[in-house]
Order: sequence, then structure tokens, then C-alpha cells
Amino acid sequence: MRVLLTGSQGYLGTVMAPVLTSAGHEVIGLDSGLFADCVLGAAPRDPPGFPVDLREVGPEHLAGIDAVIHLAALSNDPLGSLAPELTFDINYHASVRLARLAKQAGVGRFLYASTCSVYGAAGDGLVTEQAPLRPVTPYAESKVRVEDDLRELADADFSPVFLRNATAFGFSPRLRADIVLNNLVGHAVLTGRVLVLSDGTPWRPLVHARDIADAFLAALDAPREAVHAQALNVGTEDNNVTVAQIAQEVVEAVPGARLVITGEHGADPRSYRVDFAAIRAALPGFQARWSVKAGAVELAEAYFANGLTEKDFERKFTRLARLSERRAAGTVDERLRPVGP
Ligand SMILES: NC(=O)c1ccc[n+]([C@@H]2O[C@H](COP(=O)([O-])OP(=O)(O)OC[C@H]3O[C@@H](n4cnc5c(N)ncnc54)[C@H](O)[C@@H]3O)[C@@H](O)[C@H]2O)c1
Repeated sequence: MRVLLTGSQGYLGTVMAPVLTSAGHEVIGLDSGLFADCVLGAAPRDPPGFPVDLREVGPEHLAGIDAVIHLAALSNDPLGSLAPELTFDINYHASVRLARLAKQAGVGRFLYASTCSVYGAAGDGLVTEQAPLRPVTPYAESKVRVEDDLRELADADFSPVFLRNATAFGFSPRLRADIVLNNLVGHAVLTGRVLVLSDGTPWRPLVHARDIADAFLAALDAPREAVHAQALNVGTEDNNVTVAQIAQEVVEAVPGARLVITGEHGADPRSYRVDFAAIRAALPGFQARWSVKAGAVELAEAYFANGLTEKDFERKFTRLARLSERRAAGTVDERLRPVGP
């Protein structure tokens, strides 16, 4: 299939593009390059495509496309809270517009990168896709709104699919330090301490970036009736862990590291344990293979091998810091549109 992959130069897109290509799909990227140079190790080879802002997408970008995988977004809670109106602009309005244009262009399948954080404060029970959605941040709220609007667009010729990803972890050539496992391993490697600022009790479902790529590939290839207008949680129950458990895995993965739970940020309202039975039923070929332990070891090896520095960890690989820096330098404007050549 000819696949338009938005967010192709992001943390997940950089891992997903080669997975799709290896499976025989033709990948066309679309990304405004907010983090294009945030690379650890060898530079990735990006697919051909459009260096375009999502808000500027037109029919020309969808001509001849069979399927869209839509990853581009301001992609986490701190970013969303920094600029809620920008989050709604990009994550909500521009996403729905993209879906409408895709439908008009005759695109049959639209895989949307949603998130398990739509469940918000869900307590200790396992949440299925039927659980009430209680987003507690603008970021999660934007994801709920897109799902709602895309569901309305579903018809015999247009199949949106809502892949509600657990929190990602693992190595990507475009690294992110602001997601929990990647962050804790980084601190352990750089300082010898595994620093937990919450009280360690919140539940987090985690999933490796490579497993997310496999889930999207499986959803792309699945028969229409298995996925049409479905929400599917992406992950595995084995990786429903508390922040304290994640920290313990990191202590074991990084030689000499010690655990420090400060609790200074108090309790975190984002806590949910997730049920992944629906994706196993809908996509029998998909299995999330990466454990938290294996991911921690992989990250520690990559950080040591590539000489990760504290400066890069805090600035280059932390989205909020990176975007603030780019705004201050004038390479993106106030609305995060790239400036200049
Ligand atoms: N990483 C996670 O833990 C996680 C978990 C659940 C869901 N998701 C979702 O998966 C998707 C990808 O996440 P990621 O971790 O790769 O994020 P990322 O921030 O690493 O990448 C997002 C990409 O989108 C691009 N982008 C942002 N705004 C744009 C715009 N206006 N126009 C064009 N391109 C734009 C950025 O340049 C970047 O390359 C997001 O939709 C995110 O919400 C991620």
C-alpha cells in the first residue's frame, strides 16, 4: 500500500517507517521537522515526503494514498499544558481536517495514534476500550475529541481505527527523554540515581516503540471488519506497572544505580491499568514482545554506547525544552510553524 505517515520524523515515526517499508509498503512521510535533528547515534534515513505543517495539508498531499497513519501531534502532557490552544489547533482541528481530506481523496484506512491516557484517573481495575473516558489533560482531551469526530466520518469506504497506545519506551534514533522509562534510565546512566518525583504508586501501562510499529502494521494489513471504527489498546498486561516497579527495573538494568523516591510532586492523577484483549482478538498476528526490563537494558546500552550527555538529555531530547529553545532562537514561530529556509 502507499501509506502517508504523518509525524514520520518523530520518536515513533522514525521507528515505524522502516518497519512499514520492510513489510512492502511504500511510505510517504509528512512532518514539519520540529525534532528532526534530535538524533542519538547514527542518523536515520527518512522516507521521502513532505516537509509540511499539518495545518497546511491540502488535497495534493493525499493524491494516490491508500492509507494514512497519523502520528503528528504535540505529543505529551507537559507540551499540551504549555499551550492548550496550540494542542487543540494541531492535535484536534488539523487532525480532523486531515481525516476529511483523506476521506475525500478516497483513502480507505486511517490509523490514528490515540493514547491510553484518555482513561485518565481510572483506579486499580483493568480498563477496556468500553471504559468511560476521563481525560485529565488538554493532550488527552484532544485525543478524545479526534476519536469522536473520526467515528462520525466512518462509512463503507472510510475506516478510521483508534490505536490507543500505552506510554512508549525504548530506543529510537530520534530519542525522547520525557517518557518515563527513557527518563529514568537516562538519569541512572548520567547521575547514578533513579529519581522518582511522584510517590511511585501510579499505574502506567508501557509499550515498546517497536511493538507500537508492529501494531500499526498489523492494523494496516487487517481485514476491514476486524478494525473498522474500532478503538484498540496497544500494549500488553505484562507491562502494566507502577512507577516504583519501573524504577526498580532501571536499578537492575544500570550497574551501580540507586533508587531515590522523593515524592515531591505528590500523587499523580494519571493512573490506569489497561486490558489488551481486544487487540489480540482483532489482530491475531500482533504480540507486544518487549518487556520493561529488556527495554531498560536496551536504553542503558544505547546511552552508554552513544555517549549521552546531560545537556542533550535535558534539552535536545526533552520536547518542551527543545521547542522553547527553538522558539527563542526564532527557528519556529509562536504557533510552532517552522521559520526560514
Ligand atoms: N510516545 C508515547 O509515549 C505515545 C503514547 C501514546 C500516544 N502517542 C502518540 O503517538 C504519536 C507520535 O508520538 P511520538 O512520541 O512519536 O511524538 P514526537 O513528539 O516524537 O513526534 C511527533 C512528530 O510530529 C511532528 N509534528 C508536530 N506538530 C506538527 C505539525 N503541526 N505539522 C507537522 N508535523 C508536526 C513533529 O515534528 C514530530 O516529528 C502522537 O500522536 C502521540 O500523541 C505517543
